[in-house]
Formats: sequence, structure tokens, C-alpha cells
Amino acid sequence: MITATAPAKVILTGEHFVVHGQPALAAAIDIYSKVTVTSNIPKIIEISSSALGTTSKFSIKQLGKKSNQISNDGIMDPLKHIVEKILQTAGQIDRGLKIQIDSKIPVGVGLGSSASTAVSTTMAVARYLNLELEKNDIFEIASIQEKLIHKKPSGIDCTTATYGGVIFFKIGKVPEYLKPNNSINIVIGDTRSKRSTGDLVTKVTQRVNLGNGEISRISKSAGKLTMEAVKSYREGDFNNLGKLMNKNQKFLQKIGVSTVQLDRLVNIAQQAGALGAKLTGAGGGGCMIALCRPDNKYKVANAIENAGGRSYIVSIDTTGVKSENLST
Ligand code: MEV
Repeated sequence: MITATAPAKVILTGEHFVVHGQPALAAAIDIYSKVTVTSNIPKIIEISSSALGTTSKFSIKQLGKKSNQISNDGIMDPLKHIVEKILQTAGQIDRGLKIQIDSKIPVGVGLGSSASTAVSTTMAVARYLNLELEKNDIFEIASIQEKLIHKKPSGIDCTTATYGGVIFFKIGKVPEYLKPNNSINIVIGDTRSKRSTGDLVTKVTQRVNLGNGEISRISKSAGKLTMEAVKSYREGDFNNLGKLMNKNQKFLQKIGVSTVQLDRLVNIAQQAGALGAKLTGAGGGGCMIALCRPDNKYKVANAIENAGGRSYIVSIDTTGVKSENLST
């Protein structure tokens, strides 16, 4: 039996703009997806999710064909592509697998749950088949799913889930890893409303493609903001990083991805003494984050809860995906 875990993520600055070539600053956090792989009868792949309460079964007799679904509501299709790819790479398409997903990451709220699950599934299945994969191979395979679900992802979610840590990310560039600093806390506020990252990315992309001058000006300013945020993070200037997060939230409001509920939790966190607050991920619902000093994190978390949000106080994950062999 093999188990692998991978972290969730928050984006400190630069979401959406990162899809259009600007840099972003993200951090892996200590909320995890966990995937366990055991054996099954040959050629049958069974994928269950405790959070979603679903089980899908696939026969791999006709690899890659639509007709290979035995019992399936479609929700696990993107993950099935990953499993097929690994079975093919390992030259073991006759194997049967039971894949159990137990994720603590809330789904559909901007914390990278799908990327994290794709990454932990990739590592768990590969290890089960004794296929040695480097982290960059895991990233590439997990990205298959992200492209199917989110249409045009930047790759930032899979990068944080795979490598962990605090990441300065730009499409086409090797990600830079910043020294994690856990002297500062991140408090997450979940508005408890789900949304689709793919739809929001498409909405913003359509506006960018219309050649809207304002959006491209905002995008460039957001890129500069991230460069300053990286400098502030490196220097430990968290007051300035907080101010930049507040400014980033204004940009996200202008491009139409914040909501009344997100704005409300952002304001409440700021009033409770957060150094800065903004939505995180694609917006349109889902989560916001607040940068807090250790001495006011509980106050901010309580204020979020009192306003109807669900709060999580998180630390930075520095490891990324990892696996454990539980066989005796
Ligand atoms: C999603 O976590 C972040 C977005 O920028 C999309 C992406 O980068 O793929 C909205």
C-alpha cells in the first residue's frame, strides 16, 4: 500500500495576471490531499473520494476510449487520464488499482485542491508501480488533469503542490524558491461559496483578448506589484507585503473577480488588524487570505468566523509532495 500527500496553496499576489504572462507569488500550505493506492482485480481502476462521496470504476481494456467507463459520473475523468498515462509509462496497463482520495482541502474554493490531488495521485500511483519519477515528471503528468479541468492554467497550482515552499512563479521561467518564513501567519477565510476556476479564467481571458486597454494596464501594474511583494517577502518587510496585498485586491475587484462576500471578509480582516488581505485563487467566491502577525491571527480568524466565513490558520509547507510505503 502506498500513500502520498500534497499540499494546498494560496496566492499572495498575482492570480489571473499570471495566466497572461505576469509574475505571481504563491505559497504551499499545511492542508493536504492524501491518496492511497492498493491492488484491484486486473485492468480495473477504481477511484473513490471520501470528500465527494463518489466512486468511479474504469476498465482499461480499451485505453483512452470513452467506452471504458463501468460506473462513473464523469467527475473522475480528468484523474483517469493521469492514471492511464502512468500505467502506460510504467508499461503495466494490465494492472488493477484501487485509488482512495482523502483530502482535507476544501473543494472549489481556490486552494488548489484539484492540483494537489492530481499531484498526490501521480506520486502514489507511480510509487505503487515502482516507477521512479522526478518531481518535474510528477508536475508534467499532474498538469494533464489541470489542463482538462481549468482549460488554460498557468501551472502555479501544480508547481506549489509538487515542490512546496514559497514560489515566485512566471510562465516559461524556472520557478524561484524563496526562503519560507513562518514568523508570519496566513489566515484563510472561506466564503463557503464554490465556483469554477476554468470559467473565471475564461471570463478574464475574454476581456484581455478584446484588447481592453484598462485590463492590460492593470495587468502590468499587478506584475510590478508582485516584483515589489517578492522583495518585501525576502526582506521580511511584512507591513509592506500586507499593503501590496490590499492593493492587489483592488486590481482583482477592477477585473471583476471579487464578490460582495469576498470584499466583506477582506474588510473585516483588515479591520481586525491584518497587515493585508485579498481574495486568493480565481475569485468569484471561494477564499480570501489575510496576512497576520502571530499575535493577532486568532482575532482575525474569529472576526472571519463571526462574519459567517470559515477560517483556517495555516503555515507554509516546505516539502511538497511526498510518499510513504505502508506495506509490511
Ligand atoms: C488559480 O489558482 C490561479 C489562477 O491564476 C489560474 C492559474 O494561474 O492557472 C486564477
